[in-house]
Amino acid sequence: MKTSDFSGFYKLSVEERRKEVAEFAGLTDDELATLADPSSIGMELADHMIENVVGMFALPLGIGLNFTVNGKDYLVPMVGEEASVVAAASHAAKLARPAGGFFASNTGSIMIAQVQLTDVADPFAAKMRILEQKDRIMAACNEKDPVLVNFGGGMVDVEVRVIDSKVGPMVVVHLIVNTLDAMGANAVNTMAEAIAPTLAEITGGTAYLRILSNLAVKRLVRSRCVIKKEALGGEEVVDKILVAYAFAAADPFRAATHNKGIMNGITPIVLATGNDTRAIESGCHAYASRSGVYTSLTTWEKTKDGDLAGGIEVPMAVGLVGGATKIHPTAKIAVKILGVKSAAELGMVIASVGLAQNLGAIKALATEGIQRGHMSLHARNLATTVGARGELLEKIVAQMIAEKQVRMEYAQELFEKYSK
Ligand code: MEV
Repeated sequence: MKTSDFSGFYKLSVEERRKEVAEFAGLTDDELATLADPSSIGMELADHMIENVVGMFALPLGIGLNFTVNGKDYLVPMVGEEASVVAAASHAAKLARPAGGFFASNTGSIMIAQVQLTDVADPFAAKMRILEQKDRIMAACNEKDPVLVNFGGGMVDVEVRVIDSKVGPMVVVHLIVNTLDAMGANAVNTMAEAIAPTLAEITGGTAYLRILSNLAVKRLVRSRCVIKKEALGGEEVVDKILVAYAFAAADPFRAATHNKGIMNGITPIVLATGNDTRAIESGCHAYASRSGVYTSLTTWEKTKDGDLAGGIEVPMAVGLVGGATKIHPTAKIAVKILGVKSAAELGMVIASVGLAQNLGAIKALATEGIQRGHMSLHARNLATTVGARGELLEKIVAQMIAEKQVRMEYAQELFEKYSK
């Protein structure tokens, strides 16, 4: 079985790492070349993706290691600008391996589109009238996307809410749609626009907004893991992590930073696979507020054996078909590296990485603080930049850290001194 547990991966040259990933994922030479090409989309495609295009913007793509989710090993492509993120996720995933890695589940790819209806004289009666005509509404919506229906997706339910607002009561209709492996924004927005006049007619009101909700509460992914206390350095570290978690669970100021750490794991994969980072971020943060108070997206507890048990549950509207995922050459390769076969599988891997990232951050914060880890990675980056490799690199990194002099000029000075 393929393993994502590569020790010493970070010590390899970029070329050596690329070879390992190509072997793991079965990448062709062309795909490997595309992966190294910062302008892989080309100016013409770029010009079709957004407006007023004048250039490109490249970011590094790293590989999160050691992930096992539901018994399958994954190499996780992560795109971002922040140092330490990929290393922290990989480290935390390694800690989870002795207890089997991550165990994940999902609620299916069910999206919600909203149709807002105002000026309804009898909103509660109107709600009843809409629900009486559910079959008609569903059939009309499904007509708008026969391909989705053919593949087994389409509208699955209609829900109606009456909400109070500054401009009076509103009837809000939720179209509940199974979008399968698509993120589904286009599908559900088309349905919402198509059905709005019918809903206006049924309610006697005026249809206003017709748009999906990013609070995708019917498209949840969950992941859990157990970290053996020995892997953490003992039960006292478990206790420290629980205190760190309790802070995030109780205080929105801390929860915002705690959840930002979770998004450090989630967003890089969403981006790497060509999905909509803002959709996922708004969904996750809104979900963190679902009780009325913004809180942690993860939970951490101590098992009866004194080990650490973690869990995460987040909305995850990501797709594998359509959008940038299908047209961006590097995003396609990222999906191939992941080896996921469905949007739900992708979502479960993403949730697992979010959980691991959170563990990496709170473990560091609750013990040595995050600066030490940051500094050693920074030292490694500096030593690599000045040209050091292998044993020389390790020597320079160790000396910069021991002397607390993690600076480019010093890396250069040591490189010149020792390479003589
Ligand atoms: C930094 O990008 C993320 C952390 O602040 C997360 C956290 O505080 O839990 C380290």
